[in-house]
Amino acid sequence: MQHMAATYLSNADGANCSSNLTEITEKPGPIGFQGVVGKSRSMQQVFRLIERVADSDSTILINGETGTGKGLVAKAIHSSSYRKDKPFVSINCGAIPENLLESELFGHVKGAFTGATSAKIGKFEVANGGTIFLDEIGDMSPDLQVKVLKVLEEREFEAVGGCKSIKVDVRIIAATHRDLEEQVQKGNFREDLFYRLYVIPIQLPALQDRPVDIPLLTQYFLNKLNKDKNTQVSGISQAAMEVLTQHTWPGNVRELANMMERMVVLKGEGEIQINDLPAKLRPEGDQEFAPVAVAAPEIDGDGICLNTAVSEFEKNLIYQSLEKTDWVKNKAAKLLHVKRTTLVEKIKRYDLQKCA
Ligand SMILES: Nc1ncnc2c1ncn2[C@@H]1O[C@H](COP(=O)(O)OP(=O)(O)OP(=O)(O)O)[C@@H](O)[C@H]1O
Ligand SMILES: [Mg+2]
Repeated sequence: MQHMAATYLSNADGANCSSNLTEITEKPGPIGFQGVVGKSRSMQQVFRLIERVADSDSTILINGETGTGKGLVAKAIHSSSYRKDKPFVSINCGAIPENLLESELFGHVKGAFTGATSAKIGKFEVANGGTIFLDEIGDMSPDLQVKVLKVLEEREFEAVGGCKSIKVDVRIIAATHRDLEEQVQKGNFREDLFYRLYVIPIQLPALQDRPVDIPLLTQYFLNKLNKDKNTQVSGISQAAMEVLTQHTWPGNVRELANMMERMVVLKGEGEIQINDLPAKLRPEGDQEFAPVAVAAPEIDGDGICLNTAVSEFEKNLIYQSLEKTDWVKNKAAKLLHVKRTTLVEKIKRYDLQKCA
C-alpha cells in the first residue's frame, strides 16, 4: 500500500495514484501513519519520535503554526500508546471562557457557583486511564496555570467547590502555536509550568518548509474527498501542482485541505487545472477573495449542492463582517450575533485572510 503511493510523484497527472493513500497504516511508514501524512525528512523524524515516546507516559509539548497538525499528532500519539483503548480527551484552553475552563478541566460540585445545579465531572477525570490533550495551553490564564501545574506534579486535584482530592492516571499532551519560551520571558506563562510541559517537545514544521509533502497531501485529500463526497476528480495537472508547491501556505495543511475540498466539490470530475485554483494562487490572478453580498443562486435543472451553497453564503457574510470591522473579531462576531470563538473557528475553516 505504502510503496504504491510513494511512486506517485513520478506520475505527472496523479490520476493513477494509489487510492489506498487514504488508509495510512498504524505503524510509521514512508508516507505517514495514524492519519498523519508526510514523507519529508522532518515529518519522518516526527513519526520516529512519536513511536519512541508513545508508551513512555512522558508529557509532550507540541508546537507548530496553525494548521500544521498539532491536534492530529496528539491523537496519533495516543493511538500509538498502550492507552489507545482508553479515552482521548481534548480541550481547547483558548476557546473556553476563563471562568468556565476550571470547571471544564476539574469538574464542580453541586452548588459550587450560580448555575451549578448538579455536580459535573471534569475532563481530567473523564480522561482517567487515557490521555488529556490541552490544546492552546499558551492561552491559559495565570491562575489556571498554577492549578494545572499542581495536577502535573501530583496527578490529583479538587473539583471546583469541592474539598476531596481526586486522583487520576492520565497522560498529558499539550500544544500551542505560540513560542512558549518567549511567553515565559514576557511573563505571560509560568516558567515552572513550562519546564513541566517541556519534557518531550515536538516541533511541527510549516508546510512551506516541507514542499515534498505538498503533492502527497494533495493526493491524499483528493482520494479522501472523492470517497467522502462521491466525486470523480481524477487528479491535478502538473502545472497546477507546481503552483501549489510554490505557495507559502500561511494556514499550512488546513489551508491545503480546505482548498482541495473547495476544488474537488466544485470540479466534481476530471482533472484540476490551473484555472480551477483560487484566484489568489493563479499566476495571472492578483485579486484576493473579495466577495460582495450575494443573493441566493438560481437552481437550474441539475439542482444545486445545498451544503456548498450555504457554506459559500456563510463565508461571504463572515468576510463582509470582518471587512466592516477592520478584522477586529470581537466586533465582527457582534455584527453576526455569534460568539467570538464560533467566528474564529469559521475563519479557520474557510481559511479567510485579510487582503494585503
Ligand atoms: N500531516 C497531515 N496529514 C493529514 N492531514 C493533516 C496533516 N496535518 C494536518 N492535517 C489536517 O489539517 C487540518 C488541521 O490540522 P490540526 O487541527 O491538527 O492542526 P493544528 O496544528 O492543531 O491547527 P490549530 O493550531 O489551528 O489548532 C485537520 O483537518 C487535519 O486533519
Ligand atoms: Mg489544533
